[in-house]
Amino acid sequence: MSKVVVIDHPLIQHKLTLIRDKNTGSKAFRDLVKEISMLMGYEITRELPLEEIEIETPVCKTKSMAIAGKKLGIVPILRAGLGMVDGILQLIPAAKVGHVGLYRDPETLMPVEYYCKLPSDVEERELIVLDPMLATGGSANAAIQFLKDRGANCIKLVCLIASPEGIEVVQKEHPDVDIYVASVDEKLNDHAYIVPGLGDAGDRLFGTK
Ligand code: PRP
Ligand code: URA
Repeated sequence: MSKVVVIDHPLIQHKLTLIRDKNTGSKAFRDLVKEISMLMGYEITRELPLEEIEIETPVCKTKSMAIAGKKLGIVPILRAGLGMVDGILQLIPAAKVGHVGLYRDPETLMPVEYYCKLPSDVEERELIVLDPMLATGGSANAAIQFLKDRGANCIKLVCLIASPEGIEVVQKEHPDVDIYVASVDEKLNDHAYIVPGLGDAGDRLFGTK
């Protein structure tokens, strides 16, 4: 079974409170999502393998640690996942970015794919899938399956807010995918929105609706 890591650093919890607030406008919302993502990135990358390399400082030759192992890829689920990309890229600037376009059909609540563009070597990369909201888990499950169908074999899922139902669904279908969240909220409402949540993440990021 995969692990679920709740990253509850005080700075993250504070900023999460601000984005939950319905009076927070789009610019502040975007800035905060980026900041929270960057702070989460610190924890998500904690277990990256290191190797000793030789360098020369202005004073002498020395051995020093550098990130080793698999190359990284970031895969935001469009649209709302886009809001998390820059925060993570600030920590891992060399990561390649793939995009999976999905929206949740408001009637059926099922994810509908409309775009997919990935780095050509996904099978050699550790992929970090980004989506602020893990509600029913349908979108995350579909995105992870798209990546696996194209050869990905090492995937982490990173969300700001998850429902207990969404976590369970993803863990059941993808027990190899570790899930990182800033908060596990109470439940889903009758429209499959997370309660208390923050509303529609895509609309709040981009000022739509
Ligand atoms: C939202 C959110 C997730 C999905 C979560 O996207 O960003 O992708 O819903 O719901 P689920 O877990 O029940 O699938 P939405 O479909 O609203 O599209 P958008 O990002 O384009 O706004
Ligand atoms: N998508 C969102 O943006 N918010 C929710 O609460 C559920 C799905």
